[in-house]
Amino acid sequence: MSNRSHRNPAHRMLNRMRREGLKHSSERASTMPATTYHCVLASTDCLKLLGRLPDRSVQLVVCDPPYNLDIAAWDRRTDYVEWALAWLGQCQRVLAPSGNLVLFGGLQYQGAGGGDLQELMYAIRHQLELRLVNLIIWHYRNGMSAHRFFANRHEEIAWYARTRRYTFNLDAVRIPYSTEVERAYLRDPRLNAETVKKGKNPTNVWEIPRLGGNALERVGHPTQKPAALIERLVRALSNPGDVVLDFFAGSGVTAVVAERCGRHSIAADRDAALPDYLEQLRARLAPEDVAPREPCESPEALFARLQSAARA
Ligand SMILES: C[S@@+](CC[C@H](N)C(=O)[O-])C[C@H]1O[C@@H](n2cnc3c(N)ncnc32)[C@H](O)[C@@H]1O
Repeated sequence: MSNRSHRNPAHRMLNRMRREGLKHSSERASTMPATTYHCVLASTDCLKLLGRLPDRSVQLVVCDPPYNLDIAAWDRRTDYVEWALAWLGQCQRVLAPSGNLVLFGGLQYQGAGGGDLQELMYAIRHQLELRLVNLIIWHYRNGMSAHRFFANRHEEIAWYARTRRYTFNLDAVRIPYSTEVERAYLRDPRLNAETVKKGKNPTNVWEIPRLGGNALERVGHPTQKPAALIERLVRALSNPGDVVLDFFAGSGVTAVVAERCGRHSIAADRDAALPDYLEQLRARLAPEDVAPREPCESPEALFARLQSAARA
């Protein structure tokens, strides 16, 4: 072990756990559930939903909030940070100790009513107990042109963990090396062949195209995120059989991805159109070879089914 890893608290903790025969949550094996349960709630306010969820019941919160940019009626607030702290505080309560929260946003909106990611990250640092793990840069090549500043080609995703024992499945999202690079790396005696074969760490800069107007996935929601982006988050930050929550569900992409990845989901939005968007998206992304899906009429029903499945 090098001196550097000796000083790193995360390495120290992993080494201590190995000595004591314990596994970090990122190393625990999990199996695909026989059925996945999904609850979809339209016309539902985020705080009303969160208030109904049990403590420590959710593994991953995918949170893509309104940006306070006046894009639509839902995107206008004067008390943005105070309101955001209310749902972020509830996320802290409902997250499992190994749980994660990803918060979408941008830093280019400073003037627009105080609702940008910078304000939220400052408030989280000073008022909550969520731990920032990475700031992921979602980079895309398509976007608006600009003449008075560099044209924007990224958005940020802040990844927070509930505790140090957070789930992180790096192997589930590694990117394979090209055959040529893999061959060269396998010849390099300094590199571990097993790790090379697994592929590379995707890093915290992800190039994933934004959905163009004619994209197959596009169902009409104005700020719909690509399934590939959500899928990397879901696979890396939760395990099969975990509950994934998205209370600003928009098009329902998180729920569709959760089903594809063998996770249970709770998706809600104050917009009545959520179920329509979600069904269109499911039809287009046609989950194949996945566990059968069972709809649940409420989050309470979903947790009750999970409990009886665990007892069976
Ligand atoms: C940025 S969009 C989410 C887009 C979504 N991630 C997707 O990829 O389709 C924010 C969503 O928050 C919803 N919303 C705004 N205020 C809300 C509230 N108080 N409770 C629940 N949903 C709300 C809006 O209707 C909108 O669909």
